[in-house]
Amino acid sequence: MIFTVAIDGPAAAGKGTISRAVAERFGFAHLDTGALYRAVGVKGGDPVHAARSLTPADMMREDLRTLEAGQAASRVAVIPEVRAALLEFQRQFARREGGAVLDGRDIGTVICPEAEVKLFVTASAEVRARRRWLELGGDAAPKSLADVLVEVRERDARDMGRADAPLRPASDAVTLDTSELSADEAVAVACAAVKAALARQ
Ligand code: DC
Repeated sequence: MIFTVAIDGPAAAGKGTISRAVAERFGFAHLDTGALYRAVGVKGGDPVHAARSLTPADMMREDLRTLEAGQAASRVAVIPEVRAALLEFQRQFARREGGAVLDGRDIGTVICPEAEVKLFVTASAEVRARRRWLELGGDAAPKSLADVLVEVRERDARDMGRADAPLRPASDAVTLDTSELSADEAVAVACAAVKAALARQ
């Protein structure tokens, strides 16, 4: 069975949690496409060369989840040649046998416009910044909540404003605003959408 779940949205909206849960529940493979851009961003040197020569070891670096890696990823992600170098791998992953969940910014619009399920997961910038700040340790975090909010807004502006594959919902995506939802509630909504689409197969 070929079945793709495309989950797009801004940073810290809950895409990762939802994608992992959907993949586990339905036995689909999961690709966090942001990790590809993060790996390119932290590798250093020429980003186009880094994207073309990405290895599985690059994807397992410990520093991929930091705020700095997220900003670096967002900066290299504006380069069309970087996006082009990562496209085919993502497309093949999406159409692999057995079902796949991909989360990112352009999965439903560019990577897999034919995806069987498209979710646009979002939340207010304030809610997303607070989640990131809590993940970083809250009051013990190295950055203030206000600084994290500035970074979230910067990244949103860059991801939505770039010319190549900007962050935006596909016209046929279902928007899931997680601002007022618990993780369990958001996962339940996503799983219901996947179940309904599977039943239509
Ligand atoms: O989802 P994330 O925070 O790990 O993504 C990091 C950055 O990578 C994000 O700010 C923009 C870029 N990205 C992208 O341009 N396209 C994707 N499909 C995934 C991520």
